[in-house]
Amino acid sequence: MCGIVGYVGHGDAKEIIIDGLKKLEYRGYDSAGIAIQQRGQLKIRKQVGGIANLEELIGTEDMTANCGVGHTRWATHGAPSTINAHPHSNQDNTIAVVHNGIIENYVELKNWLIENYDIDFKSETDTEVVAQLIGVFFEGDLLDAVYKAVEKMRGAYAICAVAADDPNKLVAVRKDAPLIAGLGKDENFIASDIPALLKYVKEIYLIENNETVVVTPDSVQILDEQRRPVKRDVFHVSWDADSAEKEGYDHFMLKEIFEQPKGLTETLMRRLNDDGTINLDGISMTKEEIENFNKIYIVACGTAYHAGLVGKYVIERLARVPVEVDVASEFRYRNPFVDDKTLFIAISQSGETLDTLAALREAKSKGARILSVVNVVGSSVARESDDVFYTWAGPEIAVASTKAYTTQLMCMYLIALHMAYERGTITKEFYDQFIADLKEIPDKISYFLKAKTGSVEKLAKKLYNRDQVFFIGRGLDSAVAYEGSLKLKEISYINSFAIAAGELKHGTIALMEPETLVVTLATQDFLYEKILSNIQEIKARGAHIVSVAKDGKEDVKAHSNETIYIPYCRDEITPLLSVIPLQLFAYYVAKEKGCNIDKPKNLAKAVTVE
Ligand code: F6R
Repeated sequence: MCGIVGYVGHGDAKEIIIDGLKKLEYRGYDSAGIAIQQRGQLKIRKQVGGIANLEELIGTEDMTANCGVGHTRWATHGAPSTINAHPHSNQDNTIAVVHNGIIENYVELKNWLIENYDIDFKSETDTEVVAQLIGVFFEGDLLDAVYKAVEKMRGAYAICAVAADDPNKLVAVRKDAPLIAGLGKDENFIASDIPALLKYVKEIYLIENNETVVVTPDSVQILDEQRRPVKRDVFHVSWDADSAEKEGYDHFMLKEIFEQPKGLTETLMRRLNDDGTINLDGISMTKEEIENFNKIYIVACGTAYHAGLVGKYVIERLARVPVEVDVASEFRYRNPFVDDKTLFIAISQSGETLDTLAALREAKSKGARILSVVNVVGSSVARESDDVFYTWAGPEIAVASTKAYTTQLMCMYLIALHMAYERGTITKEFYDQFIADLKEIPDKISYFLKAKTGSVEKLAKKLYNRDQVFFIGRGLDSAVAYEGSLKLKEISYINSFAIAAGELKHGTIALMEPETLVVTLATQDFLYEKILSNIQEIKARGAHIVSVAKDGKEDVKAHSNETIYIPYCRDEITPLLSVIPLQLFAYYVAKEKGCNIDKPKNLAKAVTVE
């Protein structure tokens, strides 16, 4: 999705901005551009395709400057093209603007600008409207002009503007799209995301909705809607620049798969007291509230939704409260039964997914208590929630989510356990044993990664050439089947399909033919006999079966073409282990097919549009 980087200071603006944009490449984009302020003029260069194309276009051209803005665009209004790429400028190229989000009333504003100022629009974008608006209001002070323009704009956006005639200054505004200001020494920054700035600064301001920020080399001033100064605490970023680098791995996805033991340990240990009980630092939900909830909604998108499916199983099983899981884009349009006895749990890696955010707001407006499970500290979902359970996965760069998913699962287990204990539905012995079992998971994953990655790679090399793959499982295994299937399809473009194994015979089994590839999860002890029957049903139709089972389960081997064994653990927490071979399988299949693993086609890391 779109990325913004702005710089003003003593350094080489072009170098710093392009470097920052490269750090945001993982979010997905189709064109890139930069505007610099040079000797009282703006130089704007933009190009369709990757940042390398932009660099090639600039070549050896003199782009010496100390102030500028850059952007990676993911097309929403207007096709991916050089003309539609950002920055956009006003009629006489004296104002340049980059923009993330959508200006909802841009058609109305465009007509107003044409009628009243005879503006000749160059692109099909809503962003050009912003640049032209600022242009018609500009009378020497960029801040004044931005305020006047923003008064007319409706929508969700983060914008950053620069003017030829107001030197060494950036003005940026946030409304429902992420924006941060980075605080350096005699240099300051603007960005849509932290990784863009990690190489340069660790101290940032998180800009809030409806705030404007004025950035010069020696000051960063935040102003509210009425132009009053706002005091903001400095946020210290704990990630280092290396955590956003590949560190010798071929792809971020593989690195992130291998980082799961670390992320899970971090997520778990930050929530455990010395006596082994769960600490709820920063969570204000009381025992009485937990006892009084009569319904829980877990709402999310994509992989985060799949973490929610596991959450439903464990919360219902342990805490005995009905849980509904919904995809955010559906939840908000179905007038759900939400009131002040409802707990709404939003799960989101980025914390900026617009559908999830909108569903959260819908639930909040109906009185629900909002708990979120989020990876990016200070993101919109986190800030709009009553309580936040952070996943400490570190920055997830690959578009395909891996370590965010498993750390989300860890949070779901902790939430389920805590609720169950407060509601009196489990004993202290069960609680203690469960936590002890969770503590063993990081080592079990490390063992699996070390001992079995090679054999999963071999399997992928053997099977990568399939046109379609089915993933099946029962109970918690079906939730993991959905995630395994999504992982495979999004990075290898193989048509994969997940279904609860018991549903097969109600229609989908018609698709089973000799050699159809079916990945079967058979990790639930209490459903073991049932899944064996399902395996036999499809085996009888000649399917090629790859099973994932717990160590010690020998009979599944007899019915499968290949079996991947995961270390033994209690049924409830197998998803933390069984998903690992599926992530590796997807990775190696995509690698074998020569796919762009970290940046699959048509996908973006954070989906901030509806
Ligand atoms: C798949 C994937 C997506 C995201 C989804 C939600 O690998 O990454 O399906 O899970 O777009 O994103 P977040 O978690 O940022 O809300």
